[in-house]
Amino acid sequence: MANKIAIIYFSGTGNTEQIAKELGYNFENSGKSVTFFKVEDLIKNPAQLIINGYETIGFGYPVHAFGVPKIYKKLLKILPHGNNIKTFTFKTMGDPLCNGGSNTDLRKQLAKKGYVVFYETMYVMQANIGIRYEDELIEKLYLFAKEKAKYDVKNIIENKTSLLKSDFLTDVFSIIFNNSEHSGSALISSTFYVNKNCTLCGNCVKICPELNIRIENKKIKFGSNCTFCMRCFYECPKDSINTFLPIKLKGFKSIQTIIKSGNLCRSYLIDENKNGMILKRIRKYMERCSLI
Ligand SMILES: Cc1cc2nc3c(=O)[nH]c(=O)nc-3n(C[C@H](O)[C@H](O)[C@H](O)COP(=O)(O)O)c2cc1C
Ligand code: SF4
Ligand code: SF4
Repeated sequence: MANKIAIIYFSGTGNTEQIAKELGYNFENSGKSVTFFKVEDLIKNPAQLIINGYETIGFGYPVHAFGVPKIYKKLLKILPHGNNIKTFTFKTMGDPLCNGGSNTDLRKQLAKKGYVVFYETMYVMQANIGIRYEDELIEKLYLFAKEKAKYDVKNIIENKTSLLKSDFLTDVFSIIFNNSEHSGSALISSTFYVNKNCTLCGNCVKICPELNIRIENKKIKFGSNCTFCMRCFYECPKDSINTFLPIKLKGFKSIQTIIKSGNLCRSYLIDENKNGMILKRIRKYMERCSLI
């Protein structure tokens, strides 16, 4: 009992999944056994999650519009009572700007279901929407995250309490922005279209975590149940899915593809001569994490 950890996560395009794996690897290196649950699998089959027997549970998610992805609402509904189990949360995001609100909200929602959050951590990774980071920066963020995962696992095992800071205005802003994204996602997915290169291979239908894509009369149709995860965009073998909105990143590669290609840069330290608002925030994030 004292050795079992469950990690429940949602990952649209691989970043959060990679962090879940890094955390799992470090837990296992410390003698723990780890079971992973994907949010979409739990929603399809809630009975597979039996809380009794775990020492600690971790919840992971990508930040969507300053909050949790819409699919987390379904997860929170089907989650069994936690009986005050010790809980940690981790999130990935493209930019550390105004990020605290998602934690406050999730912490409260989990508390209502009997999960006591004592540790919260965040990982800046490549953005999967809007701005594509340079390959070197994506690699540096990942190398830093690998080190941070070691540090977080040590703290979690030692039962250190660490909650991410927020403030009232950030919390309110996050709730408003996040709720608007959730209610607008059906409208957004109505802008998705498929170009003539589509071969009707069915991959997008299979991988959509919300079962929101179907083939009808030899055409791909999107429903109104989208969690706006970007997975279908980047995993279509013909790069056929697009939208009129300027959100899809040209040449996006999952972190798993980048790792597999080898040749990662050697250090996570960012060149001091490189400037820009996002880089400034990323440097601060790295400094605050007290690994450098
Ligand atoms: C719909 C949507 C909204 C997002 N909103 C934010 C945001 O508010 N702040 C942020 O830093 N990153 C945001 N991102 C970027 C993701 O949080 C980030 O790339 C994350 O690591 C993706 O993780 P995944 O690969 O596990 O899905 C957003 C991504 C999507 C698809
Ligand atoms: S994955 Fe791409 S090519 Fe395959 S059915 Fe979907 S849109 Fe068409
Ligand atoms: S339709 Fe695409 S973006 Fe929406 S939930 Fe499914 S895979 Fe994600």
